[in-house]
Amino acid sequence: MRKHVAIVTGGTRGIGAAISKKLTENGVTVVANYAGDDEKAKAFTEATGIAAMKWNVADYDACHAKVKEVEETHGPVTILINNAGITRDGTLLKMDRQMWEDVINVNLGGCFNMSKAVFPGMKARSFGRIVSIGSINGQGGQYGQVNYAAAKSGIHGFTKALAQEGARFGVTVNALAPGYIDTEMVAAVPEPVLEKIVAKIPVGRLGQADEIARGVAFLCGEDAGFVTGSTLSINGGQHMY
Ligand code: CAA
Repeated sequence: MRKHVAIVTGGTRGIGAAISKKLTENGVTVVANYAGDDEKAKAFTEATGIAAMKWNVADYDACHAKVKEVEETHGPVTILINNAGITRDGTLLKMDRQMWEDVINVNLGGCFNMSKAVFPGMKARSFGRIVSIGSINGQGGQYGQVNYAAAKSGIHGFTKALAQEGARFGVTVNALAPGYIDTEMVAAVPEPVLEKIVAKIPVGRLGQADEIARGVAFLCGEDAGFVTGSTLSINGGQHMY
């Protein structure tokens, strides 16, 4: 049985924390990346025993340096989960350049930076699993999110292109597109707006972070080698195509 080491970006909170825990349960050594909240990261490590490491996925050089550090400490990275994401919502008229750049650089740039750092090793070892967290709003758009929808939609294109490059080296590359999940990010949507969104979810509720983590675990499995370039939508039926 191969030893698995995973990096989960944005892995100490929300969907990322659920993914870190699920992979750990499955016997994977997980390093959970975070960028901001030291206190929450410390509490996460104390509660779960999962190592947390701080860097900004939008920083190309930091991604390369930290992947090297993880590999020196834990061994080769076999699984990368590109989960780190932020929102800076606002209609185009109210969105300034910084709101655009922050979201593109973290949500999409982070996927490039991290994949670029781990892909050569995965290729050399003929095994890898890269799963990037897209969004229902990258599939269908969302009022007030031209930045986020563009970045998440970009993740879906990135995934399909890199899947073609990784296929013959045993590196699968997939995306998972969550719908509205019960996390701090979604809780930040103004209540009346969120109520209208939930009313449009056929299953009739927000999703749970664990429901996303189980999908990610499936895509990371050794027996999922024929699944590549796909997008797994987990959204309570809110968007189908
Ligand atoms: N379609 C059409 N019109 C809409 C609309 C929609 N979906 N939503 C709002 N409008 C209209 C409003 O009715 C309003 O019209 P009037 O001025 O004629 O009354 C106008 O647009 C302005 O709307 P707001 O008052 O809401 O504008 P605002 O500037 O105060 O707020 C906003 C805009 C920040 C985008 C706010 O609407 C909002 O937060 N929307 C939710 C965005 C969202 O879903 N974010 C998801 C975050 S979670 C996430 O991203 C995770 C994931 O992957 C799913």
